[in-house]
Amino acid sequence: MAARGVGMLARLPLCAQRGQVLRPTHRLLSCPGTVAADVKREEQSSRNVETGSEDRTPKKKFSEVQKERREQAQRTVLIHCPNKISEKKFLKYLSQHGPISNHFFYESFGLYAVVEFCQKESVTSLQNVTRTPSMDTEAAVPFKSRFFNVKMKNPSNQTSEQSCIQYSNHTPPSSKKLSELLCYAESIDDQLNTLLKEFQLTEEDIKLRYLTCSLIEDLAAAYFQDCTVRPFGSSVNSFGKLGCDLDMFLDLGEIGKFNTNKTSGNFLMEFQVKNVPSERIATQKILSVIGECLDHFGPGCVGVQKILNARCPLVRFSHQASGFQCDLTTNNRIALKSSELLYIYGALDSRVRALVFCIRCWARAHSLTSSIPGSWITNFSLTMMVIFFLQRRSPPILPTLDYLKTLAGAEDKCIIEGHNCTFISDLNRIKPSGNTETLESLLKEFFEYFGNFAFNKNSINIRQGREQNKPESSPLHIQNPFETSLNISKNVNQSQLQKFVDLARESAWILSQEDKDRPSPSGNRPWGLATLLLPSVVKSVSLAKKKRKKPASERIKNLLESIKSSSPENDTNTNGKRTVSTQA
Ligand code: GTP
Ligand code: MG
Repeated sequence: MAARGVGMLARLPLCAQRGQVLRPTHRLLSCPGTVAADVKREEQSSRNVETGSEDRTPKKKFSEVQKERREQAQRTVLIHCPNKISEKKFLKYLSQHGPISNHFFYESFGLYAVVEFCQKESVTSLQNVTRTPSMDTEAAVPFKSRFFNVKMKNPSNQTSEQSCIQYSNHTPPSSKKLSELLCYAESIDDQLNTLLKEFQLTEEDIKLRYLTCSLIEDLAAAYFQDCTVRPFGSSVNSFGKLGCDLDMFLDLGEIGKFNTNKTSGNFLMEFQVKNVPSERIATQKILSVIGECLDHFGPGCVGVQKILNARCPLVRFSHQASGFQCDLTTNNRIALKSSELLYIYGALDSRVRALVFCIRCWARAHSLTSSIPGSWITNFSLTMMVIFFLQRRSPPILPTLDYLKTLAGAEDKCIIEGHNCTFISDLNRIKPSGNTETLESLLKEFFEYFGNFAFNKNSINIRQGREQNKPESSPLHIQNPFETSLNISKNVNQSQLQKFVDLARESAWILSQEDKDRPSPSGNRPWGLATLLLPSVVKSVSLAKKKRKKPASERIKNLLESIKSSSPENDTNTNGKRTVSTQA
């Protein structure tokens, strides 16, 4: 792959500005070990984005990452701080409760610190010296959580010594900044890697997501001892863009699945429980109670909505301090397995995430996806389409799910509600692909492939990695990889699908117009990916086409044919600059 991000930074004046894009800050104060190793791994993986080289270091299993992050989060506290706090004094004060392994500050309608102790006991020690605030006009619910407020006893003598606090930034670049970064890239491959680097979740953002789940778990544990709240979806599957929602799964573990092997003797003990008519009703009741609990006692939890009649009942709320929009579900174990599967696909080849991020950003830029539920394509469906496309390459870049199942060991066996969700969890045992196509070529081919896909008769199926006849009449059929009788894109209507197809064709055409030369270093004209992310360009291409009154599909097909058959020297090119013609 031709990715030259490092070169770009060294060569261009913009790199100085780029350095100013607030990058996350890591502070390793003491207690080296897991955290430091973790950060080193993150740095290594971010280097891979730049070089495009495959990481040969062993990759962790999804379950290992989850376990480690969860354990980290349990030793961590969230503290709302006054703006003029002295970082040094603040850390010294907290260190009375035990050594701190990591901390960072961020802003979200106020200044917050995330402080990770080396030991869990330090959190208890801090809680023991913390008081419930007394209010003048209102009454406080005395819930003792790991979310604190720190006040300065003598603000005046602290401000003089205050250090300059560096904030970790969790926001993606503005469209202007992104456009600049993309314009100064050296190649389309470089553009895709830049996009990935700018939009992927930062180390701090990931920590904050696990911490938020851990804080919610503390609340839920008041009712369901030993429950866990785990993040799933794009927060953990490696395809999350900065600002994506936080999907949480309330795992009630062994409830109802008592293991008789654990007991000895002649008797079997059971809890006295209340019964309800169905599992769905049990789920609704549990979520209803947790929703109430979040609403009344959850520090920083606002706008709690109980959406209990949905196919998958959930509680939606905003966690104000982290800024995350949260969706809490339970009895949704298959979604956790989907997250693991996507994590494996994302880790197998560095081109996968770059391409998925690009398609997600492209779809968002053209309003193909939306944060409001409706007949739009979802990011989850788009990811499945990219995976499917990469399975169809020759040689394939990604293996099929059926192949991953054949590699599974006994420990990987997993049946959920009668659905076989077995696949290999150790991704180091999956052979890397021999395919060497560039991201530029893959992006073009993706648009061509889906611009001409027989959606009317074929279904997308990552289990087998080949098209199948559609079993039902929905415009877009993407088979749910585990509940194989379900279509994950059943919500998509014909007009949304047509919009996707039209945009894919137009994007394929725009990319075909790109000359193969490097853009001028001083150029600020959008080119390559920057053009694709401009809604106005695609609209003007559409307008130009409408004027010709010829069926778009036919004209684009002809165009693509003629471009393919013509030599590169014949391509229209003015002043050696990349131009985007809006005339078909
Ligand atoms: P963004 O939140 O848009 O960044 O992506 P996401 O992958 O997190 O999607 P979303 O929040 O909509 O859903 C969270 C997870 O639920 C997904 O990653 C899937 O694992 C699962 N999921 C979402 N939609 C479907 C669906 O239609 N069918 C099934 N079986 N699972 C789904
Ligand atoms: Mg999500």
